Amino acid sequence: MKGSVMGSGVFEDRYNPGMENTPPTSRRTILKSLAGLGMAATGLTSCQSNSNLSNSGIVRKAKAGAQYMGQFAAAPLERIRMGFIGTGARGSGHVAQMLLMEGVDVVAICDNHAPAADSAARRCEKAGRALPAVYDQGDEDYLRMLEEVELDAVIVATPWLWHAPMGVAIMETGAHAFLEVPLATTVDDLWKLVDTSETTGRHCMMMENVCYGREELLFLNMVRQGVIGEVNHGEGAYIHDLRHQVKEIERGEGTWRLAHHITRDGNLYPTHGLGPIAQMMGCERGLDRFERIVSFSSPARGRQLEAARDWPANHPRNQQKYICGDMNTSLIRTQHGRTIMVQHDVTSPRPYDRLNLISGTKGILAGFPTRVALDPEGKGAHGWTKGDGLKPIYEQYEHPLYVQVGEEARRAGGHGGMDFIMLWRIAYCLRNGLPMDQNLYEGAAWSAVSPLSEASVASLGEPQRFPDFTRGRWEATPELAVIGS
Ligand SMILES: NC(=O)c1ccc[n+]([C@@H]2O[C@H](COP(=O)([O-])OP(=O)(O)OC[C@H]3O[C@@H](n4cnc5c(N)ncnc54)[C@H](O)[C@@H]3O)[C@@H](O)[C@H]2O)c1
Repeated sequence: MKGSVMGSGVFEDRYNPGMENTPPTSRRTILKSLAGLGMAATGLTSCQSNSNLSNSGIVRKAKAGAQYMGQFAAAPLERIRMGFIGTGARGSGHVAQMLLMEGVDVVAICDNHAPAADSAARRCEKAGRALPAVYDQGDEDYLRMLEEVELDAVIVATPWLWHAPMGVAIMETGAHAFLEVPLATTVDDLWKLVDTSETTGRHCMMMENVCYGREELLFLNMVRQGVIGEVNHGEGAYIHDLRHQVKEIERGEGTWRLAHHITRDGNLYPTHGLGPIAQMMGCERGLDRFERIVSFSSPARGRQLEAARDWPANHPRNQQKYICGDMNTSLIRTQHGRTIMVQHDVTSPRPYDRLNLISGTKGILAGFPTRVALDPEGKGAHGWTKGDGLKPIYEQYEHPLYVQVGEEARRAGGHGGMDFIMLWRIAYCLRNGLPMDQNLYEGAAWSAVSPLSEASVASLGEPQRFPDFTRGRWEATPELAVIGS
């Protein structure tokens, strides 16, 4: 299983029959930018072609021996031998929280930055556990870890371009892959993950923690109980002022995330706002699926202004052109004609917001701050209920999962407890041989918003069709239920 890591090459898919799309994104151009910025080399190579698109341009033939993973459940594991790749800001938190879970052994840690790997390993020792095997010898040392250590599951929290090749390698060595958001940045790489999961029979779950937020769980429960009637529209966003990343030169997201803003223009990080809304709507499982998307970006200003504020004129940060529009607004139309707006802005001085809005024939639920307006009898809903007024709503509709582990999750921390609940569920489902709450195809569809929005922005808003990663089987998988434990 040694050898070169997969790359996506030039983005060649045609999502729209009869329409040539050559979006600006390619791993190669991003790597060039990384090199230009003196950022870490990644060793990724390009290699892909897209010869087996069907006539519709949105479905690919399954590989020999593939199985549908919609409700896939693996054999139960009494204890989980878990490995980690990437123990920076995010991955180190995953290690700390997994040490709290019953039946989980942290047995291997990999990070190409030795102090990050070492500090995660020491954390295990401090928790009274055995010291895990450490792999810190460069970009591809994770391959050695996968070869040498017998692992049941591996959590990946590395820069985005590594998610897909690492996910493929993990599944090919027989472990389940749990990848940070997004699953991948190109449609080609998303298909690669789908094919590998289907042929190896291993989980490939994107770890969308926001699906486990208290408000998101509450809304899911209310939607499933029919409180807002027939759902017809949703809105999600990632609005987070991350301009400080322009200052990060040695460590941190600024060392790799910025390169995406130099080479790509679109909705670069869609899944936090979108995932929970898509689950409420039952997209890619049972009720509906994403069908097409249109996308527009505003002018790109914030990163350039920030670079000018932080660095002298001749600094590399000031010699780059940041092309990703400050605000990207994308609109998804589902197969049943419902709509979802998805926004991305990490460059403007705005308070954090994910919108988290879902609207139906009997009412509307929204976030930031949590608000509810209901009209069960058709008499009108012209004001929001919020703050203390929501007490009866929480009493009636608090999600059973939150009732069960919310207190423990709040104590553990991590985005208000959502990280803990997600990791708790992953461990629980693996140990009990249950399907994951977010399946392979949901992760792929939510992640596809990035490359498809880039294609739409590049073609001045031409609609782009979503691949059907389920190959027509999404209706066979029930929508996510309101799960207890
Ligand atoms: N779900 C969430 O709420 C959330 C929050 C933050 C970050 N994230 C995601 O987590 C991932 C990591 O983000 P972060 O903030 O921790 O970034 P980071 O830069 O702090 O950490 C990334 C780590 O990966 C390591 N790394 C890079 N290439 C590697 C390789 N080839 N092999 C082994 N290790 C390698 C780096 O040394 C670093 O320690 C990203 O995908 C990000 O989008 C998710």
